[in-house]
Amino acid sequence: MAEIGGAFPGGFIWGAATSAYQIEGAVHEDGRGESIWDRFSHTPGRIVTGDTGDVACDHYHRYRDDVRLIRELDLDAYRFSVAWPRVLPDGRGPVNEAGLAFYDRLVDELLAAGIDPWITLYCWDLPQALEDQGGWTNRSTVDAFAEQVDAVTRRLGDRVRNYVTVNEPFIMAYLGYGVGVHAPGRRDMSAALATGHHALLAHGRALEVVQSNVRDGRAGITLSLAPAYPLKADREEDHEAARQEDVLVNRWFLDPLFGRGYPDDLARVVGGTMPEIRAGDLALIAGPGDFLGVNYYTPTYASADPVASDPLPHPDPNVERTALSWPVEPAALTDLLARVHRDYAPSSILIIENGAAFDGDRVVDGRVADPRRAAYFEGHLAAIRDAIVAGAPVTGYFAWSAMDNFEWAEGYAKRFGIIHVDYETQERTIKDSGRLLARVAATNRLP
Ligand code: GCO
Repeated sequence: MAEIGGAFPGGFIWGAATSAYQIEGAVHEDGRGESIWDRFSHTPGRIVTGDTGDVACDHYHRYRDDVRLIRELDLDAYRFSVAWPRVLPDGRGPVNEAGLAFYDRLVDELLAAGIDPWITLYCWDLPQALEDQGGWTNRSTVDAFAEQVDAVTRRLGDRVRNYVTVNEPFIMAYLGYGVGVHAPGRRDMSAALATGHHALLAHGRALEVVQSNVRDGRAGITLSLAPAYPLKADREEDHEAARQEDVLVNRWFLDPLFGRGYPDDLARVVGGTMPEIRAGDLALIAGPGDFLGVNYYTPTYASADPVASDPLPHPDPNVERTALSWPVEPAALTDLLARVHRDYAPSSILIIENGAAFDGDRVVDGRVADPRRAAYFEGHLAAIRDAIVAGAPVTGYFAWSAMDNFEWAEGYAKRFGIIHVDYETQERTIKDSGRLLARVAATNRLP
């Protein structure tokens, strides 16, 4: 493979990401409404640690300090999500000016620091008022979302050019409505299929709104993707299991986004009934936007036999695993990018999330040594560079996450941050992995 001197292409975007419910706290402030994650995290037994996002990283009050730290990391861009219940507390209807004003201040602070703001328009905090009417299984939620996107882009579109429409529709549909380990905690595969379809419609509508409200706006969807391999490479049945797993975790969303409609056996693989698909739906959905966002953490290994999913199955008993027991396999990211490039040919791919939770982060003399997280980043960045050399049009990388935060059903115990957060004092400390990324961003090459 041709070497490009260890460098990334010119103009490559270096960033870090967060999402609203995971960091903001201040859940009752300035007119914010209730979201499905407030309801879910306050329901006993839903979050492993019993944590909630009520305070989180208190970013709502400390955003100025956080922007200063991101500045120290030399990053070009910062991706955050706008909380729908801050802007439209009831999901639709009158705009809550005070909620929108927070993002206005944040955007100005970022721009003043020379950091390009990237907004995720939906990262899972659906207003509870909409869930009470069926949530994402109700097609009218798509119209409510278009109202939200309109309010956000009208207010911020003069300064924010880049948008991620919908974050990880697979996770929101399958984990939220199918198996119920995420909010709203429903367990109904037909509801998951309806959610998936409506999430894609929401993406299509969001692209239209961004296009009409934002001059030179750029928007794309981001998908959680994972290569699906057979657990036993020499077993025919495991190859078929891997094919089905690929339908579930990748093709469910990739196929319709690239104009191929849903995979024939999707409903059977997911285990539910397809929702109504109206004339025009597939045309609205067909197109990831100006880029395809890829969120990658770990591959998946499928078996025809029933196998435990915790820890995730892997053929190598000695594979390195993160604190969530996710196997560390950078080469799978090269595979994934090559496959997306070959089979779907998006004009531009952005790594919108990649990172790892490891235990043992400790602040010692103002420093956090996290060599395993740093090695995770180095390995995956090298894997991305390999994919670029092989022709995949990857144009940027956002580390997950800018800071330790509320890891959904896992609470605060699992830390993904490149900035450490002491939840007792809210003190922040840049981790060594953050310093590594700062060097990479400053030089546009791996050390
Ligand atoms: C997202 C992600 C994050 C998670 C991360 C680690 O799409 O924004 O799901 O919220 O914290 O993926 O699990």
